[in-house]
Amino acid sequence: MKSTPELNFHTRRWVKPEDLNPNQTLFGGSLLKWIDEEAVIYAIIQLENPHVVTKLISEINFISAPRQGDIIELGIVATKFGVTSLTMRCEVRNKLTQQKVLTIDRMVFVNLDEHGVPQPHGKTEVTYVKDRLKKKGEE
Ligand SMILES: CC(C)(COP(=O)(O)OP(=O)(O)OC[C@H]1O[C@@H](n2cnc3c(N)ncnc32)[C@H](O)[C@@H]1OP(=O)(O)O)[C@@H](O)C(=O)NCCC(=O)NCCS
Repeated sequence: MKSTPELNFHTRRWVKPEDLNPNQTLFGGSLLKWIDEEAVIYAIIQLENPHVVTKLISEINFISAPRQGDIIELGIVATKFGVTSLTMRCEVRNKLTQQKVLTIDRMVFVNLDEHGVPQPHGKTEVTYVKDRLKKKGEE
């Protein structure tokens, strides 16, 4: 990779009653589900392959607890393109206060073929759909 791009805070979530734990704060399982989905979408877009699975999620640091009505935003960035894998970093923060909610240093996703076997993805750096389409248009 040439340089590490900034975290991309693409998705925002509104914390609703059904997302709470008995302490009336955001249930960690709900947050992890949102993060896993956000990260796999990021991986699918980067690797241009819908057959991608979560391989590893490193230590998860729950820093502060969102409450009902809070708006949080999920930030993801690719940190390493392997042969078949893509590693990312994740940060979640409160949209309005910018207070950190959670950090995950390493999430590893693996690119698979149609039989579920790891397959080289051939990518080496972050690319953007708009640039890919522009390039295609120039060809
Ligand atoms: C993903 C899976 C196919 C990988 O199988 P595997 O036998 O470990 O495959 P490989 O040894 O070829 O490793 C594949 C890649 O994962 C990386 N990897 C494997 N184990 C790892 C670990 N513990 N930590 C970090 N990376 C790891 C390897 O370094 C390799 O990356 P590279 O090609 O970029 O170097 C297999 O573990 C699997 O099916 N797991 C279940 C996935 C799943 O169900 N996820 C939840 C639902 S999406």
